[in-house]
Amino acid sequence: MTKQTADSISISDELRARIRNARRVFVLTGAGVSAESGVPTFRGGGASAVWKGLPFEVISSAEMVERDLGAVWEWFDYRLDSLGHVEPNPAHRTIARWQDRFEDFTLVTQNIDGLHAAAGSREVLELHGNIRRARCVKCEAREALDKMNAEPRPPVCRACGGAMRPDVVLFGELLPADVFRVAAERAAACELCFVVGTSAIVYPAAQLPLVARRAGAYLVEINPEPTPLSELCHETIAGRAGEVLPVLDA
Ligand code: OAD
Repeated sequence: MTKQTADSISISDELRARIRNARRVFVLTGAGVSAESGVPTFRGGGASAVWKGLPFEVISSAEMVERDLGAVWEWFDYRLDSLGHVEPNPAHRTIARWQDRFEDFTLVTQNIDGLHAAAGSREVLELHGNIRRARCVKCEAREALDKMNAEPRPPVCRACGGAMRPDVVLFGELLPADVFRVAAERAAACELCFVVGTSAIVYPAAQLPLVARRAGAYLVEINPEPTPLSELCHETIAGRAGEVLPVLDA
């Protein structure tokens, strides 16, 4: 895999032709797609891995919701606050355009930052939830955080009065089964699958490109670094998502 800079990104004729002819396209994104917007990634030099001395996996865990929901909110409010001035980058915007370019287009993300929607993507399958939403721990009612007051924390559920938690998947929790099922079905039905900015080590999300590949899709990875998936891809483009995706779209 050779590293490419913005002016040296070369796209194979094969991939160009596939993009021209594809009808069913599937994109899986991870933290790397938002890196150029200034959102830290989790791995590879990410800056958000520790909060008040607690490792990310501890503060962002199902156990912490039971033990100290206030601390979980403090951490997620901090993260939400740090997203306040963050804007979508050319990668998010290219992916948003693809929903109208391809006949059957699926976007699946592991990100909770909401930047795909902010860029105009209409249907985003969010495997790990959304930081801008709360969910009742008792009755599962969901509510957008911008429709609720900043206080109290934890927010109180309007439907049943229960305590609410961030509507995100935490360590020790399962993914929303319905969202994952639809994502897996779409992966199995696509012709062309792009894997953008994910370390591809967190399962079951990392399984989706394998589902696509097994079903016969052409698999393309966009990531400046190699991942465990790289060797299974038909093509790997070693560059930054915000630089590579607009070139693919040209
Ligand atoms: P990671 O932080 O594990 O990986 C980010 C990937 O993005 C790495 O492979 C980087 O090389 C790549 N990258 C960095 N900058 C990039 C750029 N400009 N363009 C393209 N790629 C770039 O993030 P994820 O794979 O998304 O889960 O992590 C998966 C899950 O692990 C997260 O959703 C989170 C975490 O535990 C939960 O919170 C449930």
